[in-house]
Amino acid sequence: MDMLHIRGLHKRFGDKEVLKGLNLSVPEHSVFGFIGKNGAGKTTTMKAVLGLLRTDDGEIMVGGEKVVYGQTSSNRFIGYLPDVPEFYPFMTAPEYLRFCGEITGGKRSENEKRSKELLELVGLGDETHRIRGFSRGMKQRLGIAQALLNRPRLLICDEPTSALDPVGRKEILDILLAVREQTTVLFSTHILSDVERICTDVAFLNDGVVSIQGKLSDVKSIYRSDEYLLEVERKEDIQGLMRAFRFMRQRADYVLAFHEKDHALFDVLRYVTEGRVSLSKLERVEPTLESLFMEVVEK
Ligand SMILES: Nc1ncnc2c1ncn2[C@@H]1O[C@H](COP(=O)(O)OP(=O)(O)OP(=O)(O)O)[C@@H](O)[C@H]1O
Ligand SMILES: [Mg+2]
Repeated sequence: MDMLHIRGLHKRFGDKEVLKGLNLSVPEHSVFGFIGKNGAGKTTTMKAVLGLLRTDDGEIMVGGEKVVYGQTSSNRFIGYLPDVPEFYPFMTAPEYLRFCGEITGGKRSENEKRSKELLELVGLGDETHRIRGFSRGMKQRLGIAQALLNRPRLLICDEPTSALDPVGRKEILDILLAVREQTTVLFSTHILSDVERICTDVAFLNDGVVSIQGKLSDVKSIYRSDEYLLEVERKEDIQGLMRAFRFMRQRADYVLAFHEKDHALFDVLRYVTEGRVSLSKLERVEPTLESLFMEVVEK
């Protein structure tokens, strides 16, 4: 079942149409990377999912329940970490979680237990300082703990790693992976290596619509490139191959690249097996998310 399903979402700010019929399906228990460049409409989409934004057209379902602007009932399924989370700086992490627990209700003893568990999970279990002195990474981790307080079925994080250094980013990514057991994770980002590291599913948001979405492995294989890299053991074979095949391009001292077109691969293999070349590697170039994304954006 889809934890989140969006169909035909439209949103305009003045004369600027930001979302132009966006469709999105986030399967339950996926770690879903919502990818788009600055200004693509990621935050706008997330706010619409939370019912915080009046949209112009389209339908949003969370956990099978329709989202209605200004009503919060579907938010009981959702934990949300905004792009710039705000905290009370004079509180400590446990005080802050206790405060959030009191606002949202629930038994005090249960809240205490859950807070402790979550602070351990995000690596703040022994932290006694006030939030004022927290690094950005610590604030993001506390934000995730807070978002998980009510055991949401969908955790939405708006660019949780964008402002962090590589160590801080890795900590957040590890936490998002770890919570996958408990909840579906949807996070927005423009850092494609983060997505490659932890996501099961991805969607590219571009020009107001989702242009590609699906399982990361499917997306990569559908958009598989037709480029091959061929590595030889003897440098002199490079010249021979380039003379025989005009379409080959040199990539490094021992490496040539070519596109599979008009039986190119077959012809190259025949040339190689006829004994003239000693190969050390022949491989199809796997597309990276980066290359896919650039293709989508530049279209
Ligand atoms: N309240 C608003 N009023 C007018 N325009 C807005 C408003 N909110 C967003 N926009 C515009 O909508 C577009 C999408 O913004 P949004 O914040 O959703 O993008 P984003 O993908 O989250 O970008 P970023 O990566 O920078 O966070 C931008 O051009 C932005 O200027
Ligand atoms: Mg944003």
